[in-house]
Amino acid sequence: TTARITIDRDFTIGDVPRRLFGSFVEHMGRCVYTGIYEPGHPQADARGFRKDVLALVKELGPTVVRYPGGNFVSGYLWEDGVGPVEKRPRRLDGAWHTIETNAFGLHEFVEWAKEADVEVMEAVNLGTRGVEEARALVEYANHPSGTYWSDLRRQNGAADPFDIKLWCLGNELDGPWQIGGKTAQEYGRLAQETAKAMKFVDPSIELVAVGSSNRQMPTFGSWEHTVLTHAYDEVDYISMHAYYQEHDGDAASFLAEAVDMDAFIEGVIATVDAVKAAGKHTKQVDISFDEWNVWYQSGLETEDQPHLVAAQWREHPRLIEDTYNVTDAVVVGTFLHSLLRHGDRVKIANQAQLVNVIAPIRSEEGGPAWRQSIFWPFARIAQHARGRILRLAIDSSQVSTKRYGDVDVVDAAATWDEESGTIALFLANRSLTEASDLTVDLRGLGATTVRSAEVLTVPEGGDRLVANVVDDQDRVGLTPLRGVDVVDGAVRATLPPLSWSVVLLD
Ligand code: AHR
Repeated sequence: TTARITIDRDFTIGDVPRRLFGSFVEHMGRCVYTGIYEPGHPQADARGFRKDVLALVKELGPTVVRYPGGNFVSGYLWEDGVGPVEKRPRRLDGAWHTIETNAFGLHEFVEWAKEADVEVMEAVNLGTRGVEEARALVEYANHPSGTYWSDLRRQNGAADPFDIKLWCLGNELDGPWQIGGKTAQEYGRLAQETAKAMKFVDPSIELVAVGSSNRQMPTFGSWEHTVLTHAYDEVDYISMHAYYQEHDGDAASFLAEAVDMDAFIEGVIATVDAVKAAGKHTKQVDISFDEWNVWYQSGLETEDQPHLVAAQWREHPRLIEDTYNVTDAVVVGTFLHSLLRHGDRVKIANQAQLVNVIAPIRSEEGGPAWRQSIFWPFARIAQHARGRILRLAIDSSQVSTKRYGDVDVVDAAATWDEESGTIALFLANRSLTEASDLTVDLRGLGATTVRSAEVLTVPEGGDRLVANVVDDQDRVGLTPLRGVDVVDGAVRATLPPLSWSVVLLD
C-alpha cells in the first residue's frame, strides 16, 4: 500500500495542549494500593511511594493526573482521606465492592504528584454529595489560611495551599451504574450551582462538567445539550469518556476505532457550539477527554472482572488488569493521533488508568513493575508532541473494515516546534499484512535530517497478540525504523504491517 501526507508550515491546528497527555489514578483495584503506593515494598520510599513505579511514570511522562475517580468518587467522602492515618475510617466502596482503608488520600496524592511532576486534576463527589462538600474541598485545598477548612489543612501538615486548578464536577452521572446517577436536568442544575460556589471560593479554578459516559449512551447529545444549557457560563470544559476493544477477532475494525473517536469528538463539539450559539455566549467551552483507552469489557472472563470479584469485600482486589498486546499499542497510538488532530478543542485528555487498572504500567505486590505495550506510543507522543499541531492532508490506500467501511491504512498526526525546528511525525500502519510506502511532503518546513526513527511492531517470532508480561517484560517495545530518508523536501519511509512509528526531523 502507499500513503502520501502533505504538511505545510502555514497549515496548523493550534498549539499542542500539553494537558492532552494526562492520566488517571482512581481508588480502584490496585492502581493506588500496590500500584503507586505500597509501604513495605523494597522500592518504597519513607512515604510508601513505590520508586520503581514513579520512575516508570516519569518515563511515561503524563502532564496531569485525574484523581480519585472514576465511579469511586461518587460515593467518596474526601474528609476520610485527610488527617492522622490511624484515625481514618475504613469504608465500603460500593462502586468497586472494595474495602477502602483511606490510608492514601488527598495529601498523599498531592505529595505523590509533586514527586511525579504532574498537575493534579481533582474530582468532587456529585453522586451522594453536593455544593457544600465541594466548596469545602476547594477551601481546604486552595485557600491560604485563616478559615476553618484551610487551617485544618495546615494542621494536617500542609502549610501551603495545594493550588489545584483543574476540577471535575463529578463523574459519569448519566450512567445507571453510577452511585447517585442523575437526569441531565438534575445534573445540569447541580453542576451549575456547584461550579458557582466553587468559583466563589477560588475564581482561578477551571471546571469540567460531566458529559456522556460513552457515545452509545441513549442520552448522548441531549445530555450535553441540557447540561450546558444550564451550566455554560459556569464551566470551562465538558468531559468525554470512551473505551474500545477488539470484538470477535475483528482486528481490522478494532484498528479503525479512531474513526469513531474522531466522530465522537466532532459530535460533542457540534453540540457545545449549538448551545453556545443559541445562548449567545462568547466564551468557548472546550473538551476534557478525561477517560479513554482500550479496555476488554466483554469476552474476557478472567478472574479480575468486577462482577466476579464482587463475591466478597476485600482491600485492593485485582480489577481489570488488562494485558495489552501489539495490536492494542497501535490502536492506542491512533487514539493519541485523534486527540492531537482535535487539539484546537480537546484541551485535556486522560488515559485511564495509570497503573495496573487498564494501564500502561503494571506492578506486582512486593514484586517488579514493568511497561505494557501501550506505554510506548504514549511516552513518545507525550515527549515529542511540542509546538504546533500540523494539519495533515493524507492520501492513503484504504483498508476495508466491517464497522467503518473503507478507512485510511495510514493514520497520522504531526507537530512542529518552531523554536527547536523539530518536526515530529506519528504514524500508524493499520494493515495486518502489508507494509506501506510513505511519502511526507514537507512544504515550507525546511527539515533536512532524520534525527531518529523508531517503530513498534510484531517482534520476531511473535504475532500481533504478543504482550509484555511479568516473566517477559520487554517483548514489545520500540526498535529502530530503518531506511527513513529526507530527499528533495520529502520524507520517504516504509511502515511495516501493524506498526506504530515516531520519526523526528530537524
Ligand atoms: O476507568 C474505569 C471506570 O470507567 C471509571 O471508574 C469510570 O468512570 C468508567 O466507567
